Amino acid sequence: MATVFRQARADEIAAVLDLCEVGFAHPVKARNAPAGRDESSGRWHRAIFSYLYGRGDYLSEWLRVAEHDGQLVSYVGIVPRVCWLWGEPISLASLTPVVTHPDYRRRGMASGCMRDALKYLETHRIAIAQLYGHSWYYGRFDMVEAMPWYETQLPACKAAGARRSARVRRFGKDDLSGVRACYDRHAPKKMTLAQVRSADSWWQFHLPGDERRSHLRDEPTTPMTDEVLVATADEPQTARSGRPARKDRQSIVGYVVWRRTERHLAVVEGFCDDAVVASSLLAALSDRAGDRQDIVLQLPPAQSLPRAALKLGGEHRVRPPQGTFVRVTYLPALKKWFARVVGSRLKAAGRNRDLTLKTELGTLALACEVQAGGPWKIKARYDRPSGSPHGAAPARGGRAYGRAATRRRAVSVELPQKALTELILGTRPAEDIANDHNVLLTSGARKLLAIAFPVGYPYLLEADRLF
Ligand SMILES: CC(C)(COP(=O)(O)OP(=O)(O)OC[C@H]1O[C@@H](n2cnc3c(N)ncnc32)[C@H](O)[C@@H]1OP(=O)(O)O)[C@@H](O)C(=O)NCCC(=O)NCCS
Repeated sequence: MATVFRQARADEIAAVLDLCEVGFAHPVKARNAPAGRDESSGRWHRAIFSYLYGRGDYLSEWLRVAEHDGQLVSYVGIVPRVCWLWGEPISLASLTPVVTHPDYRRRGMASGCMRDALKYLETHRIAIAQLYGHSWYYGRFDMVEAMPWYETQLPACKAAGARRSARVRRFGKDDLSGVRACYDRHAPKKMTLAQVRSADSWWQFHLPGDERRSHLRDEPTTPMTDEVLVATADEPQTARSGRPARKDRQSIVGYVVWRRTERHLAVVEGFCDDAVVASSLLAALSDRAGDRQDIVLQLPPAQSLPRAALKLGGEHRVRPPQGTFVRVTYLPALKKWFARVVGSRLKAAGRNRDLTLKTELGTLALACEVQAGGPWKIKARYDRPSGSPHGAAPARGGRAYGRAATRRRAVSVELPQKALTELILGTRPAEDIANDHNVLLTSGARKLLAIAFPVGYPYLLEADRLF
C-alpha cells in the first residue's frame, strides 16, 4: 500500500476541507493524549480554511497532501507572506494547518507532508518557515520555538490616573488608512519580526466586531470581541500656508486592539507615536476594564505601550517561547539581509572583521572592507553546502583589496541551522549559543557574534490571509 506525497489538485479542495474538519474534530492535545471529539473545533477550522481557499489568490500547489490507497489522509497548507525582519522585508511562509485523518495517525503521514512542504519552500526560495503548533512535535523538523510570551500587567486603577492628553475613541471605518499608516510608521522599524500586512488583512482585522470575520459569524466558538481604540490629534497646520489647523481634520497617532478575557483585558496589538499617546490609550483602556481587572499587554517590551505601563507601576514578564516555531528554509534569501542588517551593526560598532557562518544549509560570509579614514564596503556571499546536489560552490580565492584598505583576520563560526535561526531572531543570547558544544568558533567570535546578533523580541501574529 503506497503513500504518495504531492501537491493537491484544484478539484481536491472539497476533499481537503473534509479532511481538515474530521482531523480537528479529533484533536491531540498533548503527547500520548488524544483529546476526545470536538466537533466545533472541526467546524471552526473548516470555516477559516474554506475562506482562505475560496479567496481566489490561493494556489492548490500550496496544499501538500499525503495520498494513501487513493484517499487523502493528511495535509500541510502553506501561506506565503512577507515579514519585516529587523526592518528589512523577507519572504516567509506560515505552515497551517498540519492535520492527519484520525484513522491514519502515527504512521508518518504528517511528517511526510511537512518534509514535502519544507522542500517546496526551499525550491521556491522562501527564506523562513513559521507555524503555531504542539511543542512536542515540530523540533523533529529542526524548527525552534521562537516567540516568547510577553506580558506587561497593569492594574486598571493605576492606568486610570495616567495623563489623557490625546483624544481616544472607538475605531470607525474612516480610520482604516490612519491606523495602517500608524502601523507602517512603527512595525517595520522597531520590531525584530513583524508581519507586513496585506490590504485584505487590514480590512478583515480592523473592522468593528460585528463586521469582522463575517465568514465566521455563524460559528459559536469564534471570539468576536476584539475592539480597536484610536488616539487622534489635530493635523498640524501646513508650514507653507500658515493656515490654522482644521479642527475636523485629525490624524491617528496611536491605536490598540484589545479583547476581554475571563480574567483580564488583553491588548494584542498597539502602536503609538509617543509616550503621551501611550498613556492616554492606557487610561482609556482602564475605563473599559472593571475596577478590579488588570490590563495585560501581550506585546514585546520595547514598544511604547509596555514602556508607558511600566512607568505607571506595571510589571513585565517575558516567558519562554511556546508554540510558535520558526526555521530557516532557504539561506541564500538572507544574503542581502545579512549584508544590510548585520553589516550595519558591525559598522556601527566599528568592527571591520569578516564574519563567516557555516551551517548545513550553506555558508554566509560577510566581508567588511574599510578604506583608511574612508567609507565602509560591506558585501555578503553565499556558498552552497559541500554535500549539495548541485555540487560544492567553486572556491573563491582572496579578493584584491586596495592598498589603503585595512583588513583584519576573519572570524568564522560553524553552527547548526537551528542555532542560526535563534541568532537571527535574537531569541537566545549570542553568548549562550557560543557556549553550545556543537558550535565551533575561531578566536574573537564570541564578541563579534554578540554585536552582530543582539537579543530580539519576535512578534508574529496569525497568518494574515486567514481572517
Ligand atoms: C499532530 C498530527 C498532525 C500528527 O499527525 P501524524 O500523521 O500522526 O504525525 P506523524 O505520524 O508524522 O508523527 C507522529 C509522531 O507524533 C507524536 N504523536 C502524535 N500523536 C501522538 C499520540 N496520540 N500519542 C503519542 N505520540 C503522538 C509521536 O512522536 C509520533 O511519532 P512516533 O509514532 O514515531 O512516536 C495529528 O495528530 C493531528 O492531525 N492532530 C489533530 C490536528 C492538530 O492538532 N494539528 C496540529 C496543529 S499544530
